[in-house]
Amino acid sequence: MMSVELIKAVGDVQLGNPDVNGKNENDEDDDVNPWNVFTKSQTGVDYDKLIKRFGSSKVDDELLARFEKITGKPNHHLLRRGIFFSHRDMHTILNLYEQKKPFYLYTGRGPSSKAMHLGHLIPFIFTKWLQDVFDVPLIIQLTDDEKFLWKDLKLEDAISLAKENAKDIIACGFDVEKTFIFSDLNFIGHCPEFYQNMVRIEKCVTFNQVKGIFGFGDSDVIGKISFPAIQAAPSFSSSFPFIFGKEKVPCLIPCAIDQDPYFRMTRDVAPRLGYHKPALLHSSFFPALQGAQTKMSASDPNTSIFLTDTPKQIKNKVNKHAFSGGQATIEEHREKGGNCDVDISYRYLTFFLEDDERLEQIRKDYTSGALLTGELKKELIDVLQPIVSKHQERRAQVTDEVLQTFMTPRKLKFGC
Ligand code: TYM
Repeated sequence: MMSVELIKAVGDVQLGNPDVNGKNENDEDDDVNPWNVFTKSQTGVDYDKLIKRFGSSKVDDELLARFEKITGKPNHHLLRRGIFFSHRDMHTILNLYEQKKPFYLYTGRGPSSKAMHLGHLIPFIFTKWLQDVFDVPLIIQLTDDEKFLWKDLKLEDAISLAKENAKDIIACGFDVEKTFIFSDLNFIGHCPEFYQNMVRIEKCVTFNQVKGIFGFGDSDVIGKISFPAIQAAPSFSSSFPFIFGKEKVPCLIPCAIDQDPYFRMTRDVAPRLGYHKPALLHSSFFPALQGAQTKMSASDPNTSIFLTDTPKQIKNKVNKHAFSGGQATIEEHREKGGNCDVDISYRYLTFFLEDDERLEQIRKDYTSGALLTGELKKELIDVLQPIVSKHQERRAQVTDEVLQTFMTPRKLKFGC
């Protein structure tokens, strides 16, 4: 249950009585936090409820229309389909863009395994689009320290996984002149301003508050307790003087909603430090192959499609493991039709098939029973195989030298 202190700490949370895992006393089902996403529902997390519990705002038609009007570009399918469904202060960011005032993007990855899965790609695909549309600098944090503290990983391995993951991130197509990628373990020791912001943040948040926000207990190591300040610090431009000088530049963070607890804390401390609160755009979760109730896990390769999978592995995984919303027999399926709300192949297509008309046709045909489960799975396989192969080709071109350039603290091209 939320303490009075926590209500103060997470000043953005207004509704319900949630703990920071997105649970409240009346709701036993969904549990959403940076380390776990759990739902009992076959259709996935109830995102409308989550918006209320977290106190964020819905990405509504008005915001979508304003996005298109101000950028002059059609909205990305992840935005127009409601996959990025929630935000904090996105109107403020659009105001800045309209007034030609600067802001930057910040996102990240916790390098816990060599191979990233398709779900990890979602915020990066969207961030790349945001970078192209707004033409702004981007900071990407690799929290190798977080993974060292939380997982059974040697420090050296966490550092090397950060480099491997950075290559996958670069392969998404980020502009080297506008993007700085850093690993906590390599960068922070060289940047006093970053460390100074960490300490400022640490001084604003009590142990009681982080316990409430992140669920830490008495036997958690002390590194975990202070870690949230490290993920918060890149939200403040003064952490990167070589990019922003002394200017206080506002920040927009695209991520899945599991990362929101970090940024509720950040938004609470920002005004006390004289900084802008970071704005956020939250995505929903790309589900495991077995369905929305299963967790994707690097230790079970059959729970997801990984960026290292071959075309054959993709085909086999989809055919064998993708949870089907179809009926038990062909006759029954033709008669009753399939259920797109729970069908994983259809859900995956909503993330990766860009053509709206084709997607709608598939939805109609599957729902009516005209399209069979095997045919729907084939649609997905045909969409995913080239996406993953092309990613692998681009990644093969990311040399150590390219990586080094992205990870070198330097001035970025900074339009306005
Ligand atoms: P990590 O490595 O768990 O996840 C990286 C990014 O992917 C998002 N994500 C997903 N998105 C859609 N569907 C999924 N199934 C899915 N699983 C993960 C995460 O929300 C995240 O955006 N602590 C962070 C690293 C980090 C960070 C940040 C993330 C540091 N600074 C700023 C976002 C913004 C982590 O371990 O992410």
